[in-house]
Amino acid sequence: MKHLDIKKVLRDADMVGTEAVVCGWVRTFRDSAQVAFLELADGTSFSKLQVVIDKNTLKVDPECTKLGASVAVKGTVVKAYKGDGNELNATEVALLGACPPDYPIQKKRTTLEFLRGIPHLRLRTNTFAAVFRVRSVAAQAIHRYFHERGYYYINAPLITACDCEGAGEMFRVTTQPWNSAAKSEEEYYKNDFFGVKAGLSVSGQLEGEVAATALGKIYTFGPSFRAENSNTTRHLAEFWHVEPEIAFAELPDVIEIAEEMLKYLIRAVLAECPEEMKFFDSFVEKGLIEKLNHVANSDFAICPYTEAIEILKKENARFQFPVEWGSDLQSEHEKYLTEIVYKRPVFVTDYPKEIKSFYMKQNADGKTVAATDLLVPGIGEIIGGSEREADLAKLKAAIQARGMDMASYKQYLDLRTFGTVPHGGFGLGFERFVMYCTGIENIRDVTLFPRSAKNIM
Ligand code: 4AD
Ligand code: MG
Repeated sequence: MKHLDIKKVLRDADMVGTEAVVCGWVRTFRDSAQVAFLELADGTSFSKLQVVIDKNTLKVDPECTKLGASVAVKGTVVKAYKGDGNELNATEVALLGACPPDYPIQKKRTTLEFLRGIPHLRLRTNTFAAVFRVRSVAAQAIHRYFHERGYYYINAPLITACDCEGAGEMFRVTTQPWNSAAKSEEEYYKNDFFGVKAGLSVSGQLEGEVAATALGKIYTFGPSFRAENSNTTRHLAEFWHVEPEIAFAELPDVIEIAEEMLKYLIRAVLAECPEEMKFFDSFVEKGLIEKLNHVANSDFAICPYTEAIEILKKENARFQFPVEWGSDLQSEHEKYLTEIVYKRPVFVTDYPKEIKSFYMKQNADGKTVAATDLLVPGIGEIIGGSEREADLAKLKAAIQARGMDMASYKQYLDLRTFGTVPHGGFGLGFERFVMYCTGIENIRDVTLFPRSAKNIM
């Protein structure tokens, strides 16, 4: 069907005086004695197109005026009577699809929670359409950021036999029926599709290291899967993961890249989604634009874990989980650090080795690893990264100390055997970034079909 984007018809001054066809869904209908007004949305812009119907010259099928109906409109583009931009004086209005009155998206503001129950229709609301336009712009900006800087885009496998984070949160991939006759796990998996226990990848990092130690600078951008049984507002069982990996890089380089990338992404979203961001600023998080501008233009803080614990210990009375050196930071601690102490994004660095993954570079103190988590106000951890252990003996020791199966890390160890180099990288949770940019507080509301424990609608 030959038609134009509403965005173009609405905004392009050169369109005035021309004939145009647009298609879209009816958002509002207003009627008076002589004229009627249809507001149309087609997804291409936040603003809707006003269609003006002169009732003396044009009879319109009443079905075309119902909320949610889809229509095609032919008309003449004119300068808007009120406000900026253009509107369309209709000469023909044709029904594409009627919309009965039990359409669940009614005009009065419905709650995000209600809309979560109709994920297949909620994108027709201003809020969700805006979220997903921002999400798309952010995804493009991620590719642009890395491409402009000479990183190669790598696709890591999603099915794997290796639990990268070693946290036991891997979903199993199997074609086998339940078989209680198997004498051991090993025997059971021998008959399975891959002949060994396989699962969905929790991170593309290990494969990313393979690529980085040949191509220099790479990134992956794809889904990761975690069977985390935590029903929080920031965890999904399936999330999108941005993972750059850089050869000849140490922890300070990793931190510098993470900060620069995040600022680049924020600027891209502010520049490319002005209408959406104004909407979020007004209706979702007051002061959002100012917050993001500030973040894009000031330095992030850096705080070693040991210092963070000193700060937090003084406030232990306010926490549900009091901290001491060696304990993992809970979300309440992360939020306190970034929201109350620093009031801006903060990289916490050099965590105790016991609470971090096996692959992280062991520091000279023998107690900590060269890891970093970036914490941001409102969300907590948005990025997790580290310098990787490049020393074969130390890496083997870390695998052994955790009781992990050395044999399944053969390839990973080979990277340290043959021309090992200092290298590092990080993982950005893409949904958490979209939450941060839009002010949306629940990760389920920035994901098309969110998957979490007991939820696969
Ligand atoms: O901190 P994580 O577990 O780090 C890694 O997976 C490393 N392999 C990354 C690397 O160095 N290449 O995860 C990285 C980020 C977290 O900071 C968080 O933003 C996001 O991924 N994330 C999740 N997002 C949504 N739902 C979940 N269940 C998530 N788990 C992690
Ligand atoms: Mg982490």
